[in-house]
Order: sequence, then C-alpha cells, then structure tokens
Amino acid sequence: MDRELALEIVRVTESAAINSARWMGLGKKNEADAAATTAMRQMLATVHMTGTVVIGEGEMDEAPMLYIGEKLGAGGPNLVDIAVDPLEGTNILASGMWNALSVIAVGPSGTLLNAPDMYMDKIAVGPRCAGKIDIDRPLIDNLKAVAEASSKDLSEVLVAILDRPRHQEIIELIRSAGARIKLISDGDVAAALNTAFEQTGVDLLVGIGGAPEGVLSAAALKCLGGEFQGRLLPEDTSQWERCLAMGLTDPTKKLTMDDLVAGDDVIFAATGVTDGELLRGVRYAGQHRVHTHSVVMRGKTGTIRFVEAIHDARQKRFE
Ligand code: FBP
Repeated sequence: MDRELALEIVRVTESAAINSARWMGLGKKNEADAAATTAMRQMLATVHMTGTVVIGEGEMDEAPMLYIGEKLGAGGPNLVDIAVDPLEGTNILASGMWNALSVIAVGPSGTLLNAPDMYMDKIAVGPRCAGKIDIDRPLIDNLKAVAEASSKDLSEVLVAILDRPRHQEIIELIRSAGARIKLISDGDVAAALNTAFEQTGVDLLVGIGGAPEGVLSAAALKCLGGEFQGRLLPEDTSQWERCLAMGLTDPTKKLTMDDLVAGDDVIFAATGVTDGELLRGVRYAGQHRVHTHSVVMRGKTGTIRFVEAIHDARQKRFE
C-alpha cells in the first residue's frame, strides 16, 4: 500500500468525528452513529484505493452504508480491506463521556479478518509486554508477566475492563491479585490503544467485547508493536455457522495478531470524538473553526503520527 494512504485515511476519521461530535450528550446514539457513518463513507469515496469493507456497520441487508462487502474508494492500485467503526462508543458520545473515537484500519486485500458481529474474549498489551501474555494462561499469570515485563509491582499494574456483569468474576480475581482496575463503560478499542502509551497509565486490557472491535484493536497494536489475542465466543448455531462460513474451521481457537491482521502492511487511524486519555475530542473554537486530534500509524515502518488539525466547519458538511 502507498504510504500516502495513511494521510488520506486520517481525513476519513476526522470527518466522521466532526460530523458526529455535534451529537455529544444529546442522548441520541443512533443519530450520532448515522452522522459518523455518512461522513466516513463520503470521505472514503475520495481515497485513492480500491477497497472492500470487511468490518463495518453490518451485513448488506441490515446496514445502508459501510456494509460488509461494500466497495469504496476512488480507485487505483491499492487493493485493500477496510475495517471501520465510524463511532466507537455510541453510548459514550450520547452521554458525553470519555473515549468515543472514530476508527479505521486498512490492509492489503485478504489481510484483515472478516470477524462476525459477536463477542470475543480479548487480551491486549503495549510493546513492553508483547510476547509475554497468553490468553490461554490463567489471568493471574498474565498479570504477573505484565508486572515483570513493566518492572512494576503487581499493585501498580492497571487493568482496563468493560464494566459488565459478565466480568464480575474476573474483576474479583484481579482485585484479589492486588492489581488496579479501570472500569470502562464502553469503548474497548480506546482501552487497547491506551496500553501502548505510558501516559495513559493503562497496562492491560482484558475481557469480552465486540469481535469487530477486536480486529481494529489488533491492527492498532500491530502498528504499535504491542500484542492482542482473542477468541471468538459464538453464542448460538447461527453465530457458529457464520464463523465456519468465514473459513474459521475451529471457531473458538485462539486468534493471534497474525490471524486477525496478516502481515505488517497495515494502516490504522483514530480521531477523538470526546476527550480521552490519548486523544482530545472535537473542539469548536468559534468562527467556524473545528479542532480535531488524531493518531495515524503504519505497521510497515512503525511510524506513529499525532495529527492536530483545524478545519473550517463550512467545508466539512456531510449530508
Ligand atoms: P458501540 O460503539 O457499537 O456502541 O460499541 C461500544 C462497545 O463498548 C465496544 O467498545 C465493545 O467492544 C462493545 O461495545 C461491548 O459490547 P457490549 O456493550 O454488548 O458489552
């Protein structure tokens, strides 16, 4: 993939963030998601690539835009898979809380796992702890490995986990191991990203979240030199069959980063919609000025760029 694609891709998440941020705190998550999706799709049409959505807003019959299989891009020799979450954390934005993001990953055709919309068990760490974790091992062993690799006492390790009843048991386990916990209401892509940036304080993400978000997190951590492992959790026969149809002959096998994102030629971008530990949310500066804060990274070179942009809102209207 051309390296210029990285800079084109960040425009896509900026547009989605700008168009959805107006819905912050208005309690209308579907409207906010639609605004992000509309803007993202319009901007994707201008990107120099021949892309196919592998992770998007749903199947063709359930999503009008950014559905799985949709062809997008302005054309050209970059034949790519596209994974998107125009608004990651719809509830977060609707209630004006932390860490709503707009995210995208692109990789050469056939490299991003077409993960079905189901749950996935996850573990994610930053570069210091890459190669030290294993989703098959007891959680306590992973906590100890992270503490050791980070030269921290276990009581200093901070674990991010979605605040859900299904996690009660592992929350108790982490507490009894003596590690610290950051319960998050939503948005485990942001939590996975945070593990790779010391300033966020997060060492580890564990727990069950969406599988599509797992692929996006794996793409980000591949660029960052971290590690992500997952395991799909099909809940019924139809989900099991979807896994088989995707070519996963063993649907509940451990998914390594290479299973989720093959090779290292991957580009990931995220723009903050609301404020988070890593990215600031969209700011309205008056006189039609809108500020955005994004991160865009390339796996091939390991370059991580933070992009602060000032936009003229009159030029960024998406219908
Ligand atoms: P949405 O943006 O689709 O609302 O997803 C937010 C999210 O919190 C993800 O970050 C996470 O992977 C998933 O939902 C968890 O699902 P659930 O809310 O069903 O526990």
